[in-house]
Amino acid sequence: MQSLLNKKIVLGVSGGIAAYKTPELARLLMQEGASVQVVMTEAAQRFVTPVTMQALTGNPVYTSQWDKSISNNMAHIELSRSADAILIAPTSADLMAKLSLGLADDLLSTLCLARDCPLLLAPAMNKQMWQHPATQRSAQRLIEDGVTLLGPASGFQACGEVGMGRMLEPAEITEQLIAFFQKKTLLGKKVLITAGPTFEAIDPVRGITNQSSGKMGFAIAHAAIEAGAQVQLIAGPCDLPTPLEATGKIARTNVISAKEMHAATLANIDCDLFFAVAAVADWGIAKPAKEKMKRQGISAPNIEFTANPDILLDVAKTVKTKGGKPYPYCVGFAAESTDLEKYADEKRKRKGIPMIVGNIGPDTFGSDLNQLLVIDSIGSKKIAKAEKLQLARQLIQLVAKKI
Ligand code: C5P
Repeated sequence: MQSLLNKKIVLGVSGGIAAYKTPELARLLMQEGASVQVVMTEAAQRFVTPVTMQALTGNPVYTSQWDKSISNNMAHIELSRSADAILIAPTSADLMAKLSLGLADDLLSTLCLARDCPLLLAPAMNKQMWQHPATQRSAQRLIEDGVTLLGPASGFQACGEVGMGRMLEPAEITEQLIAFFQKKTLLGKKVLITAGPTFEAIDPVRGITNQSSGKMGFAIAHAAIEAGAQVQLIAGPCDLPTPLEATGKIARTNVISAKEMHAATLANIDCDLFFAVAAVADWGIAKPAKEKMKRQGISAPNIEFTANPDILLDVAKTVKTKGGKPYPYCVGFAAESTDLEKYADEKRKRKGIPMIVGNIGPDTFGSDLNQLLVIDSIGSKKIAKAEKLQLARQLIQLVAKKI
């Protein structure tokens, strides 16, 4: 799946050591299907050469507003008119200050002033420079002017210090640019999601779990953030990275057992939309042993189970109406081995929820691919086999219409 197909991106580069990551960024943007036109400031060329950027993007690199190769000598107009977005990575403190004041003394700054497309900046600088009131003022003004800031992040800096000001990693910048282009159908909405398996302890080292990878729930979290939502993700044990973490639009609570997942979910019930994607264990262990159970010859222990709470059912019981619509709008998931539509719809009615999504098996667990059957009171709709993130985006658009 290429998420930037047919997008024309002007990739600006200003002078900062993080420019050593810009060639990698250009490659990632192109892998996603974007065409990349690089524009470099004078200082940027001290850190990475135009030849490198040209070789990687297959396009001539522009460095001066006095470039004779542009027929009408108006590179700033030409380049900005054809672009879907201008992305500058790294953006130095100096360039931020210039852009916030509307100065235009080289090609890149002139291009930004003359643009009629969105501008996204990935700042990169030493922590003192980032914290300086002048830079903070620039950042504030740029945001007020409708410019999108990607990062910066906190961490190790080239100068040897640790703090705020690091450029986001190329993969994070790419993800955020992709997110920027998605439809904002959940703007201002709060979305709660359970994802992954649960683990029911038998003793301190043993337990019962299932094969859920968490990928579908995490993909829904990703797509919800892309659509503009604030996400609370309640994750069972899985080692997936938190999606779009650098946006600050996601909070993650890690839980182990179904009971913990139940408590964490109900504590966050004040939301517009609830996706119960987790494969919650139906039974927990009645009395988990405090110490590791010893093997006793060939005899096996009798383990007593207790029923776990049904998280989705309990959330559904709290639903109120807000503006004539259910709040939160609850979406369940179902994996069935036979008669998916029949059993999933029965489950939807039993749980008292407006929508259930059937995983059309059999290779859904752990796979990056899936296909879905979305069922509500009106009928069902199939979402054809695709990567889970792509399915999640389509599901989000369907659900957004309901709320
Ligand atoms: O039939 P089942 O109860 O497993 O239905 C699956 C749906 O219910 C899924 O959305 C799952 O996340 C949710 N569920 C839950 N708590 C449970 C069991 C299932 O939220 N204890």
